[in-house]
Amino acid sequence: MRFARILGTGGYLPARVLTNAELEQMVDTSDAWIRERTGIEKRHLAAEGETCCDLAEQAARRALAAADLDPSELDLILVATTTPEQFFPSTACLLQQRLDVHGCPAFDLQAVCAGFVYALDVADKYIRTGAARHALVVGAETISRLVDWSDRTTCVLFGDGAGAVVLGTSDTPGILSAHLHADGAYASLLQVPGGHGNGQPQRAFIEMRGNEVFRFAVTTLGRIVDETLEANGLTKDDIDWLVPHQANIRIIQATARKLDLPMERVIVTVAEHGNTSSASIPLALDQAIRDGRIQRGETLLMEAFGGGFAWGAVLARY
Ligand code: ACO
Repeated sequence: MRFARILGTGGYLPARVLTNAELEQMVDTSDAWIRERTGIEKRHLAAEGETCCDLAEQAARRALAAADLDPSELDLILVATTTPEQFFPSTACLLQQRLDVHGCPAFDLQAVCAGFVYALDVADKYIRTGAARHALVVGAETISRLVDWSDRTTCVLFGDGAGAVVLGTSDTPGILSAHLHADGAYASLLQVPGGHGNGQPQRAFIEMRGNEVFRFAVTTLGRIVDETLEANGLTKDDIDWLVPHQANIRIIQATARKLDLPMERVIVTVAEHGNTSSASIPLALDQAIRDGRIQRGETLLMEAFGGGFAWGAVLARY
């Protein structure tokens, strides 16, 4: 049997930090409201001229160094992003060029906040089938550029960043299972309507019916916990760590309660990063591996919910 294992992780956050205090000067909000309703204290923003591929490259280089792998040994490059550097080539192809890798498949995957778990599943399948030996999976976003900075209901939530994982082939299980879902019926609750769809000018800013998204996210993530445990014949006690998408501390707490996990076993970065969309899980994973919380052999549940709606979970043994 062939499995995909996590060999190394990397993360990168742009230098500029936007605090809640600064947001108080921009819209009718307060540090207290933002902390209480979302858990967010600050977020990082890409500098002018800093691109999605810039962030992806930094995270990718750190993950490759942690995996002790030369980029030439990669045979798949995936970038999960909602905010690609340009329409085309894909950010994955731009990243491939930066890494001086030539010839292997490289493509972007768009599932908004669920992008990283979607990409992890795709890479796992390449490795399990023998189509790739080493895969680079990046979640990278400059999502702050889709934010309407006059809309207090969304502008306090998002931040930029990138996280990356290098997967390698192993004969012992790494990625145990993936459970992906989507339902386009809910598109209008969370969307950026801009695009080239009908030739009419459209707003290219995040629009969200936050309260409805919140309730749907909590219920759906509860269900995906059950689905993942059942599919693997596991109980809640078998999960060592929850590595959730970082949209809102209250959504994270609800999923932790569903798993009977104390918050010490949940990797939380939402206070410092805000919602970095597809970058949030690999950034959290990287932080917890580097600071020694997550140890080899431990079982991690990664889960995400976002625009589409698209959502999913990946269970992995580190
Ligand atoms: N500061 C102060 N007050 C605010 C702010 C703000 N920044 N934003 C909204 N309010 C007000 C509202 O206007 C409302 O006032 P009203 O009662 O007078 O009408 C009140 O606060 C409550 O608003 P709600 O929207 O009900 O607040 P809620 O507790 O639901 O929190 C939030 C809003 C944080 C957006 C929450 O709903 C949420 O996290 N939703 C889910 C987000 C998510 O998971 N998205 C998916 C991933 S994102 C992606 O895929 C791109």
